[in-house]
Amino acid sequence: MTNNTVKQHFGVTREDRRKQHKHNSFLLWFTGLSGSGKSTVANAVEQALFKKGVSTYLLDGDNIRQGLNKDLSFTQEGRKENIRRIAEVSNLLVDAGTVVLAAFIAPFEKERENIRTIVGTENYVEVYMTTSIEECERRDVKGLYKKARKGEISDFTGVSSPYEPPVSADLEIDTEKTSVDEAVEMILEKIRTKLERA
Ligand code: ADX
Repeated sequence: MTNNTVKQHFGVTREDRRKQHKHNSFLLWFTGLSGSGKSTVANAVEQALFKKGVSTYLLDGDNIRQGLNKDLSFTQEGRKENIRRIAEVSNLLVDAGTVVLAAFIAPFEKERENIRTIVGTENYVEVYMTTSIEECERRDVKGLYKKARKGEISDFTGVSSPYEPPVSADLEIDTEKTSVDEAVEMILEKIRTKLERA
């Protein structure tokens, strides 16, 4: 679609904002099944970073789908648009100098590739929560797997909609074997040099 817009350039740049924040900015994306620990680990990582004085913002599927993306379904098209919008929002927040943590199932490799393209590969860190469907279903914190098995929810990831395992995740974490504290340590270690301003 052509919409006759021209990119505008402003006096305060991404680099200026990064300098003011005293750290680099990038997107840390958590992908995995519902109940795999994305929100829990993202929350703990954000708290750890915040304590260190890092400017952070957490975007979470359950919350965003009650506001900005409440018009979207869980069909392949709905999820595609959900992820596209979040990638664009993340790109703005990264431009603002913030470390963004995003916890979304994002089940399709093509859409995850699109995130990388939108924010730039150097600004994208992918954490794959590998927690098995069996364990997620055993936890069933929100009671959604039970409903999905009964057919009360359609297109449910892992039950009636696919999850494509990431092919190029930066880190894999199985919360059945790894504690939240250990997961935080692994992630902080992974992003330690990335946090430093270039
Ligand atoms: S995504 O696939 O489009 O990335 P997103 O992360 O935003 O999904 O939302 C997932 C959350 O929505 C789940 O944790 C769950 O609480 C809820 N949910 C409701 N319906 C579904 C569904 N059909 N499939 C997966 N999650 C669902």
